[in-house]
Formats: sequence, C-alpha cells, structure tokens
Amino acid sequence: MKALATIFAGALALAACSQAPESASTGSDTAAEETTRVVNVYSSRHYASDRAIYAAFTEETGIEVNLIEAGGDQLIERVRADGERSPADVLITVDAARLYRADEAGLFAPTDFASMVPGIAEHLIHPDGHWVSLAKRARVIAYARDRVDPSTLSNYEDLTGPEWEGRICIRSSGNVYNQSLLAAIIERSGEEAAEAWATGINANMARAPQGGDTDQLRGIAAGECDVAIVNQYYYGSLARSDDAANNAVAEAVGLIFPNQEMGGTHVNVSGAGVAVNAPHPEEAQQLIAFFLSEFGQRAFAELTNEFPVIEGSEYDNPVLEAMLPFVEDDVDMGALGENNATAQRVFDRVGWP
Ligand code: FE2
Repeated sequence: MKALATIFAGALALAACSQAPESASTGSDTAAEETTRVVNVYSSRHYASDRAIYAAFTEETGIEVNLIEAGGDQLIERVRADGERSPADVLITVDAARLYRADEAGLFAPTDFASMVPGIAEHLIHPDGHWVSLAKRARVIAYARDRVDPSTLSNYEDLTGPEWEGRICIRSSGNVYNQSLLAAIIERSGEEAAEAWATGINANMARAPQGGDTDQLRGIAAGECDVAIVNQYYYGSLARSDDAANNAVAEAVGLIFPNQEMGGTHVNVSGAGVAVNAPHPEEAQQLIAFFLSEFGQRAFAELTNEFPVIEGSEYDNPVLEAMLPFVEDDVDMGALGENNATAQRVFDRVGWP
C-alpha cells in the first residue's frame, strides 16, 4: 500500500488543480454547476490534517467539500438558527456532549449507520442513527518522567491525595473535555464522588488553569507541574512533530492510562451526523462512510493520533500503537451529554476556574 503521505500529497495537488480557472472553451458555468456534487461540512475539528482527508475524498468521489470551521456550540447555534434554510449537510464535533446537544436541538436526520459500519461498538453510535463516532480519544494522566514514579499512580482518583498538592496542571472547567470526564465520573460513581474528585483536583493545582492540553504538557516539561490530565493525541502530535522542541516536551513526559481496574480510561469521540435539513443528504452519507472506511480510519490514526472506531483498522503510527492495549470506559456516549449540566454545576460549586 502506498504510504498515506504520498496519497495525501497527490490528493492535495489534485485539489489545487481543480481550483484553477477553467478555460472558456470548456462550456458554460451552468453546465459545470449542474454536474458538480458538493457537501457542506460544519466541523469543530481543528486539525489541519482534516483538509488532506477532504482532498482525498474529493479525489475519490468527485464530491467537493465546502468546509465551515467553528467551535461546536457556534456551529450548533448556526444550524439551529438557520432552520430549514441551513446549508449544512454534515455536522462534526470533537466531543460527545456536543453531539448530544445538537441532537437535543433536533439537528440530525436518522441515518442507517449501523449497517454502514457493522464493526462499530454499540456505545459509540446513537441508537436511532442520529450520529456516529468517527474516532476515539482517551483522556489520560501525563507525568514528568524524572520526577514521578508511575507505579504510584493508577487512577484519576489518586490525584486528589495530599501528595499531589501543588503539582497538577489542567485546563479550565469551561473546556468540554474536562466536562465530559467529570460527566463520566458522575455516571460511574455518582455526583457526590464526582464532587469530591473535582474538589481534590482543584485543591492540588500547580497554577490557575491556562491554555489547552498541549500547554499542560509543556507545563510538565518546564517544571511548573509534575502531572497533567490531557487527551493523548496532543502527546502524539508533539512526539511525532518535525520540531525538535516539541519532541523534547514529549520525551520529558510519560503517559498513564488510568482506571484500568476501575471502569476504564475515559474515552471521548469525534463524531458526525447528517443534518436534518441537509440539501445533499446522499453526499453527506458518502462523506461519513469515507471517514469510516479503511482509508478514513487510517487517516485519523496516522494524521491526528486518534484511535480508530472500527476494530482491526490498520495504520502506521508507532506512537499510537505503543499506547495500546488499554481498558476504556464504555459508558454510553449519550451519558456524557446527559450529565454535562450536572458536571458544570459541580465545577462551579467547587470553584474550579
Ligand atoms: Fe482537541
């Protein structure tokens, strides 16, 4: 098989060509418009590599991708406000809570994803086909290799102990990744235990929350904190970066996949659904099928360091492979959305900024 990089390079070159103005002799614009198939994608995925995936999709299907990128809540609000006039065909989020929010707003058309992807686990797909997971991400504990003995740290709950006082870097509670982690703890252990956990983490922070997950990893490398809670793909991206400074951050850090004997490591998903008023529902389904194809799953693993949702997907990414195997929390993705409001209330009560 040709390396993905080569395929993507080819797809990108093709995409660039197709944007060149056509010569006057190739016919009227109207004829061209009639034959051009398009899909309008509203995505909160903030990864440059997705453009390469879209280019490959266009190369394979001839369907052009119009990409609207914004935050999940902004996209949801836009599709909701536009109502029947919404041009959105596919709505993509990087978090199950936002899929839930979009679904609650009635933004998804039921689609038979279950027969499109027989290899997908039940908890990763909406029971009525309103959305489907595209790729998984695990929220893990990162630690300073030179200052922390990983054998002393197994669970998220361990970080609330007094020995971790002043040693934790973690982003703000306004971030949906933390909200979904807390929502999963609420689902597994109840609101009271979740509040005790949030209280303990808040008490042990090395600094007020700042920046994204990558900034927490940099905090460890800079000696500002000894542990952090981050999505594992940020580590993958630093470890596989072309920039030696990023590699050095990754080298200073180890990862622990927590709660292996306590319900599993918290996993969240990138997911997508067909918009309820999609002008191009067929093209929308084709794009989602492409994400779930052998090629698409491989692209997520190789380009964004996310785990495939289809069992047995093959990919070439030693950093990602080294993270396996691990036990993942198989809480229904819908529960992350259902518990989101409670999670936010708990964060407010404990004063986690
Ligand atoms: Fe992210």
